[in-house]
Amino acid sequence: MSSPIARTDGSPVERLVVQVDQAINCRALYAAGHPNVTRSMERLVAALDAACDARGEEAITFLAVGDDVVVGREPLGRGSLYLEQFVHLLTRRGVERLTLARGLTADECRLFVEPFAVGGVPAGSAHVQVGRVQARVQEGVDEAALHEPLSGQSLDAAREAFTAFRTDGAGGLRRLEDVVWGLIEGLTEATRAVIPLAPLKNHDEYTFVHSINVSLLTIAQARAFGIQGDKLHELGLAALLHDVGKLKIPLEVLNKPGKLEGEQWQIMQGHAEQGARHLCGIEGSRPLAILVAYEHHMRFDGQAAYPTPRRSRHPNLVSQLTSISDVFDALCTTRPYSKARPRDVALGVLAERAGTFHDPFLVESFARIVTESGLMSGEEPPGS
Ligand SMILES: [Fe+2]
Ligand SMILES: [Fe+2]
Repeated sequence: MSSPIARTDGSPVERLVVQVDQAINCRALYAAGHPNVTRSMERLVAALDAACDARGEEAITFLAVGDDVVVGREPLGRGSLYLEQFVHLLTRRGVERLTLARGLTADECRLFVEPFAVGGVPAGSAHVQVGRVQARVQEGVDEAALHEPLSGQSLDAAREAFTAFRTDGAGGLRRLEDVVWGLIEGLTEATRAVIPLAPLKNHDEYTFVHSINVSLLTIAQARAFGIQGDKLHELGLAALLHDVGKLKIPLEVLNKPGKLEGEQWQIMQGHAEQGARHLCGIEGSRPLAILVAYEHHMRFDGQAAYPTPRRSRHPNLVSQLTSISDVFDALCTTRPYSKARPRDVALGVLAERAGTFHDPFLVESFARIVTESGLMSGEEPPGS
């Protein structure tokens, strides 16, 4: 099929989107063996190679996030009919993540295009991975239970692991690793849309409950970008340990009602560097956790915050995700010196800080996740 509507502008990834749409449209019009179908698939494979070359990667992963398609950390520009069609095709088939890898063969291409063009369930192959949305509520599952916050049992296990971590760093760390697998499992089971935040019942537990919630919110953010498995676990653990330096802060400073000033404020600010140092001394600590403990109060724009490194720098992506979860959970929880704010107000604060303290794209993605998670449905914040 000639392609009078094929665009030559746009990025290589956008051109790949065009070729995927055209291959699907072409197959919908012609029989499987038609030369036009064969040619459209050849163009798709060529566009995939060009996109991989341009990005220096072996595969391109598309994430359908609401009305956007995200590749890497960037949403593709809106306003293109091809992109709109692409989002529609993915969502109609319940596909939230699609990976096309270099080496895609003609047969795999046919297999991949077929269900989108003529119906059926999209399936993966050696060079195609299809991540489908889980059914929202499986048969026999109590929907109310899915909206419950973290179960008391998992919280008890997490509390014990934290206590163990205070006295036996390496042993406690291994138990905290299990806690993070449990949080990932809890999020997966709680359906894609629900974030089962832990409630704060006792203010002495603020740092513990806050750490659990920051980990959950950071895992939820990372999952929306298609991060899974060991990498997801590693960043969930890093987020869980972000405030580990607070273990070193005297309780009279940590729980002081009212604003901290002078030396006490210096001590509080020191928790980032202290946390990183503490983790450096624990066998089995991951570099990512050390980095996040150090960077989680740094600003996206590199302006002065704390700690102040010798040269201004951009915090790591996981530190930035953690920082957004950190601010949101802190604002939504009653602390010794401030009352819990409603979640929409907390999102407003994050929006005001977008571009300075936080990456605007990450803030937008976070707002979408929180809004879709049911956390905005009007119930009280967990620690209020
Ligand atoms: Fe902190
Ligand atoms: Fe924190």
